Amino acid sequence: MQIEWNILCPLEQETISLMERAASQCLESESVAVPCLVTVCLCDDDNIKHINQRFREIDQSTDVLSFPTVSYPPGKTAGQCERILKQEYDDESGACFLGDLFISVPHIKKQAEEYGHSVNREACYLLVHGICHLLGYDHIKPDDKEIMRKMEEKILAKVSTDLRITESNDDLSLLKYAAEAMKNSYSPYSHFPVGAALLTSSGKVYTGCNVENASFGLSNCAERTAVFKAISEGEKKFDTIAIAAKAKAWPCGACRQVLNEFAPHIRVLISWDDNIEEKNLQELLPDSFGPANLI
Ligand code: THU
Repeated sequence: MQIEWNILCPLEQETISLMERAASQCLESESVAVPCLVTVCLCDDDNIKHINQRFREIDQSTDVLSFPTVSYPPGKTAGQCERILKQEYDDESGACFLGDLFISVPHIKKQAEEYGHSVNREACYLLVHGICHLLGYDHIKPDDKEIMRKMEEKILAKVSTDLRITESNDDLSLLKYAAEAMKNSYSPYSHFPVGAALLTSSGKVYTGCNVENASFGLSNCAERTAVFKAISEGEKKFDTIAIAAKAKAWPCGACRQVLNEFAPHIRVLISWDDNIEEKNLQELLPDSFGPANLI
């Protein structure tokens, strides 16, 4: 995705680079194969209020405004409309022009603080939200809103490692649950206690610990204990798994494969001593084999 920036209110270069990555991910997730272009104006609250008043007759500042150039047929989004997109092809840029976005930098900063996550994450979220509108998504009807939110989450999950979502309060509580669960570990043979806390999309948390056995091969890891507990309670959608151990430990191969069965894009947080790291399962299990590969 090409972005033509108009920066009236600056952000860190790191944030801008992440936003560029998130923008490209929007096209990839939507399966748009043609090159596209958007303009993004990073402005202050007065600027965005002025635009809101002039083009929407709303005398208020807001976080993001989108002005699409393409009008998609009802129920369709860009991925299904390559021919229509190509009508917006612009010779000079060599890309299809999707439209203009205005994002308020003061809103990015204020909302990042309110939600307890990083400026990087909020900036990427607002950009992704705006681009989704330019791709034909909207949130007027509840059904459409759900589809749009899912798309935004899918896109952000793919760039999440760089977004430092680990700064959010929720992640810290999830890591605390994992550390609590670690206390129940039955590990008299390895002396390596592990705890896991699995967050479902519905907001519930299932914890687990490793359970060893005198017949060593029968031992079960903390992650799989948590997944099996959740599945046996009827849960199948997972957002994040947090893991606590005494040393740095990404999930073993068997646990990666089990997680992949239900949540190929799950965020995986690990913690040891005072350290926290995050990866997406895609990075831990690339080119994975899953349910979709069975004919
Ligand atoms: N273990 C886990 O619980 N999770 C992992 O992902 C890695 C290993 C446990 C299994 C065993 O009880 C102990 O750590 C040593 O391998």
